[in-house]
Amino acid sequence: MKVCRTIAEYRAEIATFRAASESVGVVTTMGALHAGHMALVERAKSGNDRVVTTIFVNPTQFGQAADLEKYPRPEAQDLEMFRSAGVDAVLIPSVEEMYPRGDETIVETTRLAHVLHGLVRPGHFRGVATVVTKLFNIAQPDRAYFGEKDYQQLAVIRRMVRDLHMPLEIVGVPTVRESDGLAMSSRNIRLSPEHRKEAVVLNQCLDHAETLMGTASTVAGLKADVQEMVQGRTSGKLMAFDVVDPESFEPVEGPLNRPIAIMMSVEFGEGEDAVLLIDQREIVP
Ligand code: PAJ
Repeated sequence: MKVCRTIAEYRAEIATFRAASESVGVVTTMGALHAGHMALVERAKSGNDRVVTTIFVNPTQFGQAADLEKYPRPEAQDLEMFRSAGVDAVLIPSVEEMYPRGDETIVETTRLAHVLHGLVRPGHFRGVATVVTKLFNIAQPDRAYFGEKDYQQLAVIRRMVRDLHMPLEIVGVPTVRESDGLAMSSRNIRLSPEHRKEAVVLNQCLDHAETLMGTASTVAGLKADVQEMVQGRTSGKLMAFDVVDPESFEPVEGPLNRPIAIMMSVEFGEGEDAVLLIDQREIVP
């Protein structure tokens, strides 16, 4: 595995794959790798001749400087995980090279970035769309792999690729979970032992939604149940529980008798130690 610290090195490596007419899949990450990231790598390996990855803790998608500073960076361990999974090249660029001095260009999905999770985290999806565009331009892959866990992120990237005619295929990969159902996340290790136990509530709320599907229940009833579950079982704060149409992302109301996507987020802890967890599920009657 070639470890590249500059864009030029990474491009040169990928150019050798291209010269041999090999297809290239990319997995973009912020590091602190876990089995969720590795599922993307495995999927990329099965669909391409070469798999390349990126590790970049992207400052423009973080709201608070503290959150950015606290983001874990276990680089040696990450490299070992990519190496043993058979990754061909990894880019670990500097902030200075990714965002050249005086840069002024942004990429934004003007509607999708500002609804749902975008309301809780203003500017987040603009940062994601901008950095992912840069990474696509750098790697120029045939395919790119993203987790369904970050459901709105996946939708933003699909829309951006379609709207800007970017010449690659986006592949969504199902969420990998811990044994108790908590979606794997680099943020999970920041939870206190107590909050870690409580965090299973996200998956429980999504399970509950699934049991209500096709019954006489309504979206309003589901939302009331979820509020009660989070409040009654945990010290966390329900930040969002959005029930939307999986295609349009428009809010769904009324009876639970049509395909829906649920995006939820719960915050555990206070102030600087707060950890925001997200989860999602698509449910078809
Ligand atoms: P990061 O949180 O490191 O996630 C990298 C990729 O792994 C994303 O596509 C994410 O959806 C996927 N992923 C994370 N946890 C997963 C899980 N439990 N199961 C399946 N896939 C999972 O998402 C980002 O980084 C950044 O926003 C990025 C796209 C790299 C842009 O900076």
